[in-house]
Amino acid sequence: MDREANSKINWERVSPDSLNLAGVNVAIVGGTGGLGRAISRFMTSRGANVTVVGQTFRDDDLKGIKFIKSDLSLLSESERVAKVLPVEKLSTIIFTTGIFAGPKREETPEGIERDMAVSYLNRFVMLRDMIPRLKPSKDNIKPRIFVMGYPGNGKLGEIDDLNSDKSYKSLATHMTTVAGNEALVIDTAIKHPEINIFGLNPGLVKTNIRDNFLGENTWKSRIVEFFIGKFSQNADTYARNITPLIVSPSIEKFSGAMFNNKGKSILASAGITDEYAQRFMVESAKLVARAKTA
Ligand SMILES: NC(=O)c1ccc[n+]([C@@H]2O[C@H](COP(=O)([O-])OP(=O)(O)OC[C@H]3O[C@@H](n4cnc5c(N)ncnc54)[C@H](OP(=O)(O)O)[C@@H]3O)[C@@H](O)[C@H]2O)c1
Repeated sequence: MDREANSKINWERVSPDSLNLAGVNVAIVGGTGGLGRAISRFMTSRGANVTVVGQTFRDDDLKGIKFIKSDLSLLSESERVAKVLPVEKLSTIIFTTGIFAGPKREETPEGIERDMAVSYLNRFVMLRDMIPRLKPSKDNIKPRIFVMGYPGNGKLGEIDDLNSDKSYKSLATHMTTVAGNEALVIDTAIKHPEINIFGLNPGLVKTNIRDNFLGENTWKSRIVEFFIGKFSQNADTYARNITPLIVSPSIEKFSGAMFNNKGKSILASAGITDEYAQRFMVESAKLVARAKTA
């Protein structure tokens, strides 16, 4: 994987309103809220067939969005959903499920730290199951996977304590999930040339992602989200900016690339080397194995 080339992609930008997505089959894991939902609604409005996975469906008003209900904090559920999704027919899978680690460590019934499970580990589990079943399109375009997180920020995460068993601090724990997502993109790009995988960094956008951390509807949350809303693009604008990239033919040869909030390619974090990414996957697999026997 050529990181330099991946950070200098000149993809052809087209107007979002010119997109015709008829016949494009997309799954958005985390497409029931926030950024995933905005992308789902926009892609559907341009003719795509979208399936969203999440806990609460909010888009009964739009025809064409299918819903799979799931609590993806459970790895057993993530495995089930990976099997239920029509993977063979999908051209694009977008992972946007996430929370922010709360002030106190929480554990799922499978013994996994909650943020780790929701923001990263379910993606790891689902991809392992789905990749062998993905198929290129008739005109030989590889299936595409987009992993949303915060790539390129330089943080490596606590690789020797993925479950925050030894130490828990909400920011450090969350940044471990962020590093995991970046490592997942890099390692998958190297190991699976038959598919394309990319990282998305949306920057700060007003959504519900920080509720768990700041407290839902608290004054802290209202102030932070007010300022984020004032100075950043909103979720719908991000969806309009990023959808032309998601379907762009120009990114076909750049698996492993990361993109910022405007869809500009950026450098991956220097510390997440190929070796480090591989180690992260090994530790992730160990944690998944532990969860199953818990
Ligand atoms: N917004 C930002 O400022 C920002 C900044 C950097 C990175 N990101 C990244 O962008 C991605 C999307 O975040 P967002 O801002 O759109 O967050 P959001 O508004 O909170 O949406 C998160 C999505 O995750 C789903 N979800 C949460 N817990 C779940 C669970 N246990 N089971 C199944 N689904 C669950 C939610 O579905 P339900 O509502 O149906 O539960 C919702 O669809 C995340 O990866 C986040 O880390 C966001």
